[in-house]
Amino acid sequence: MATPDARQFRNTIGLFATGVAVIVARADQEVLAMTANAVSSVSLDPMLVMFCPSKRSNLARHLHQLSAFTINILRHDQQALSTFFAGGWKEPQPPPFRLVPAQHAPRLEGSLASIECVPWKITEVGDHWMVLGQVMQLHTGIQPHQPLLFLSGRYRHVHPGDSTPAPDLSDVQDEPAHIYYG
Ligand SMILES: Cc1cc2nc3c(=O)[nH]c(=O)nc-3n(C[C@H](O)[C@H](O)[C@H](O)COP(=O)(O)O)c2cc1C
Repeated sequence: MATPDARQFRNTIGLFATGVAVIVARADQEVLAMTANAVSSVSLDPMLVMFCPSKRSNLARHLHQLSAFTINILRHDQQALSTFFAGGWKEPQPPPFRLVPAQHAPRLEGSLASIECVPWKITEVGDHWMVLGQVMQLHTGIQPHQPLLFLSGRYRHVHPGDSTPAPDLSDVQDEPAHIYYG
């Protein structure tokens, strides 16, 4: 079988629904912001999260001076900010937003939540960087928690009430999952 091309890869991995975040980074005297969905929690001890900026991004050019950053999880009604910080905004005026001071790096006011981090490790991964950040502070916004979602290249919304509780796995030991083939 032929190896998949970039379009097939994007179409397939795009089926993995994500939230949308704006990364606000402090690097030297500069503050840089970009939209990202390659964001994940990585470790609880130490508490680590990651985001992956393209090597072509403006932020990547300042990575060696990165001192702190915030991961700002967007609310369902902040699509314009996602587009703006992805460089796709076509209006003459930017959408209204405010970066407010926090302990380590500025955070985006009004987002669903902001996670303040300091860089823990920065690794080169193909045409991107993987930036692991140690979580220093958490800020959560007003309820209800309705995030902006991204799926198959489109913004989506959560329908409140359309949910099923996941099992509580907090007491689960390191027992392997049992998989049976019928
Ligand atoms: C929903 C969404 C998610 C994105 N996720 C990422 C990402 O995880 N990493 C990345 O490098 N670019 C991502 N981008 C593209 C960047 O936001 C875009 O290239 C941006 O212009 C980079 O910032 P710059 O213009 O300052 O270089 C995403 C864009 C959108 C709309």
